[in-house]
Amino acid sequence: MTPLLEVTDLTKHFPIRSGAFRSAGGVIKAVDGVTFSVGAGQTLGLVGESGCGKSTTGRLLMRLLEPSFGSIRLDGREISELRRSELQEYRRRVQMVFQNPSSSLNPRQSVGSAIAAPLLAQRITPPGGVRAKVRDLMDRVGLRPDHYNRFPHEFSGGQKQRVGIARALALDPQLIICDEPVSALDVSVQAQVINLLEDIQRDTGVAYLFIAHDLSVVKHFADRIAVMYLGRIMEQGDTEEVFGAPRHPYTRALLSAVPQPDPAADRSGRIRLSGDLPSPADPPRGCVFQSRCPVHPRLDPRRRELCTGSAPSGDIACHHTDVAAGAPATTPR
Ligand SMILES: Nc1ncnc2c1ncn2[C@@H]1O[C@H](COP(=O)(O)OP(=O)(O)OP(=O)(O)O)[C@@H](O)[C@H]1O
Ligand code: SF4
Ligand SMILES: [Mg+2]
Repeated sequence: MTPLLEVTDLTKHFPIRSGAFRSAGGVIKAVDGVTFSVGAGQTLGLVGESGCGKSTTGRLLMRLLEPSFGSIRLDGREISELRRSELQEYRRRVQMVFQNPSSSLNPRQSVGSAIAAPLLAQRITPPGGVRAKVRDLMDRVGLRPDHYNRFPHEFSGGQKQRVGIARALALDPQLIICDEPVSALDVSVQAQVINLLEDIQRDTGVAYLFIAHDLSVVKHFADRIAVMYLGRIMEQGDTEEVFGAPRHPYTRALLSAVPQPDPAADRSGRIRLSGDLPSPADPPRGCVFQSRCPVHPRLDPRRRELCTGSAPSGDIACHHTDVAAGAPATTPR
């Protein structure tokens, strides 16, 4: 069955306009050959450290940015080939919830108007009228009818994010890109907002691309996980597989750093990554993780060469998953 969203080799290189790499015609490889899919009604968790290219991926999918290369298909249709009227339809079917609910709402626009805005922009009049639809949406996300004429500054962070979710739902989308929708919220409120998103998915069948920098946020929520590092996907798979038996050294390191609910839990298995994140303007050749990979220094020279040669591809972007999982680091005969 064709997945709802298919992303193949998606690439976004930003030209460098200042600094050392400018004269050399350098580029920032924000997204560098990313491939994944999202099934109808499913959730893909896209996780990785700050600056790895998560939001750029989301913006490319929203058509807020033009890809440098690669393909995005919704229901099998290549979106770069859509005509203007079809693009409007695409914009209805794919919506976004942003990280910071305060800056994504206009302080001078009432909550009711903010939720109605996508309907008015698309010139859609729902059967019972715009106002009734907005009231339904407010009810759906747990806002009271008297909130309609209030302004964003009168709301808590969690309530503002509910407004953002109601606005994203206004056009009955098939896919919502949630770009770190809970990372600006208190932990207790995070759980409420995630529960709300899960309820909405159960009721409407909407799919989510859920962006997070913390694996624990997506663990109980996503059907599949894709782990991103320096513009590339390091590992992807079903959530249970990735959490139960991570195979890429980066995923293993991230998982070992996930906070344990029990403070007395054994922390001896924690893998600490050395060094800083390399610049996306000058990533390592071959495997982009090699400068911080805990497995790389343990490899014998013949195996190590592979890491600097061709970039590893596939669902697990590592040439040496056997060693990452604990096998001897010598060349197999
Ligand atoms: N418009 C732009 N021009 C130049 N570089 C950009 C632009 N947008 C993003 N970048 C760079 O691309 C890289 C990826 O940025 P992006 O915002 O996608 O990361 P992220 O994973 O969402 O990070 P965070 O977790 O901090 O939100 C970063 O190095 C960033 O500085
Ligand atoms: S390919 Fe080499 S450097 Fe890259 S993750 Fe695997 S072992 Fe580490
Ligand atoms: Mg981001």
